[in-house]
Amino acid sequence: MNTAPVRVVIHGASGRMGQALLRLAADDPALQVVAAVVRRAPAQRVIDGVPHFAASELSGVPAFDAAIDFSLPDGFDPVLALCLARGAALVSGTTGLDAAQQAALAAAAQRIPLTWATNFSLGVAVLAELVERAAASLPGWDCDIVESHHVHKQDAPSGTALTLGEAARQGGAEARYASLRAGDIVGEHLVQFSGLGERLELVHRAGNRDIFARGALHVARQLPGRPPGHYRVRDLVGTPGR
Ligand SMILES: NC(=O)c1ccc[n+]([C@@H]2O[C@H](COP(=O)([O-])OP(=O)(O)OC[C@H]3O[C@@H](n4cnc5c(N)ncnc54)[C@H](OP(=O)(O)O)[C@@H]3O)[C@@H](O)[C@H]2O)c1
Repeated sequence: MNTAPVRVVIHGASGRMGQALLRLAADDPALQVVAAVVRRAPAQRVIDGVPHFAASELSGVPAFDAAIDFSLPDGFDPVLALCLARGAALVSGTTGLDAAQQAALAAAAQRIPLTWATNFSLGVAVLAELVERAAASLPGWDCDIVESHHVHKQDAPSGTALTLGEAARQGGAEARYASLRAGDIVGEHLVQFSGLGERLELVHRAGNRDIFARGALHVARQLPGRPPGHYRVRDLVGTPGR
């Protein structure tokens, strides 16, 4: 059994997600952060034992098993190219990719194991499975997805609601959507199946952003060594850690 820690690169390390990833990975003996990549080189090149690199120095990062990318669309192409060049896994939560980037992702999945997802919460991954199963088991029932987020969130329905709607479609149901914007809600998704005289409600509540970082780290522990392919988060839940 391979007990060596998985060597990871955190790309977008100065962002909110990047900081959460660095903090949580530092406490995980199954992971070793070998590089943190930020857009501009910091004055201090080693922070808490982690070497920091500027985006322009990406090709110089040391050997790694998986890159975890939570940056912005203009940072995505270089990190994908790096993973292809090194034969390493890619875990990306960067949203807003265009059609060409999605096509590049699909092509890369022929050569490396990767996961790109709009939501890395393990609970949401299981919720999607349950939604698909409920939709398949309850033909003819109404399916409604109600998503609630803080007042600053502008897009609606949320990407996660659309992912859950796709799961319902896979099970044979066509979901309707409703969006609430209120207070400081981190994120809630209720999927309601309504029949005659009964209702089934499946709900996920996010308490903080760490859940996305924990899910991404879980995926980063799982992907290296797997055959090339695009793995969904739900393909990797329930699998034992290294
Ligand atoms: N899938 C999920 O579960 C999930 C959850 C939360 C967030 N997200 C997504 O993850 C991404 C980051 O979110 P966030 O809240 O952490 O955003 P953020 O705080 O704005 O951080 C973005 C980070 O990306 C870096 N960056 C931007 N362009 C780059 C480039 N060309 N090369 C390298 N690094 C670059 C930024 O560096 P500077 O500081 O130098 O600008 C910053 O460190 C967004 O796309 C967001 O939608 C996904």
